[in-house]
Amino acid sequence: MTNLYDEIGGEKAIDAVVELFYTKLLKVDTMIPIFANTDMNKQRRMQKSFLNHVLGGKPYNGKSMKAAHARLKLTDAHFDTVIRTLGEAMKELKRPHVMMFWDANQ
Ligand code: HEM
Repeated sequence: MTNLYDEIGGEKAIDAVVELFYTKLLKVDTMIPIFANTDMNKQRRMQKSFLNHVLGGKPYNGKSMKAAHARLKLTDAHFDTVIRTLGEAMKELKRPHVMMFWDANQ
């Protein structure tokens, strides 16, 4: 039996989703200042690592979520934008198993 990680297409699928996710996210007005001082190459690398980890692939090698976001004053609205945009990237790239979790939460 395959696992969720393999079913969604493994590392290659996660790479594609993360690339599209940040391309979309950086077009949202409220997100531009938040990521203004962030090295986006590193950010994409770390987000790929995190998603690989939570979906059952390789271990995550970045900061804790608490440490990564400590200097930011994030609100529920920021969080909703991030989650919605990640969902849009997944839908656009047709990652069906992840979408199932997504749709169940809407
Ligand atoms: C599901 C929720 C989220 C996850 C899984 C997540 C994941 C991550 C990861 C893996 C990193 C990199 C840590 C490192 O550099 O080692 C990071 C950093 C960052 N995240 Fe998030 N994040 C989430 C929500 C958010 C939200 C809502 C915002 C704001 C809109 C945000 C903004 C940032 C920024 C600006 C950084 C870079 C900080 C820096 O430049 O050092 N994140 N996040």
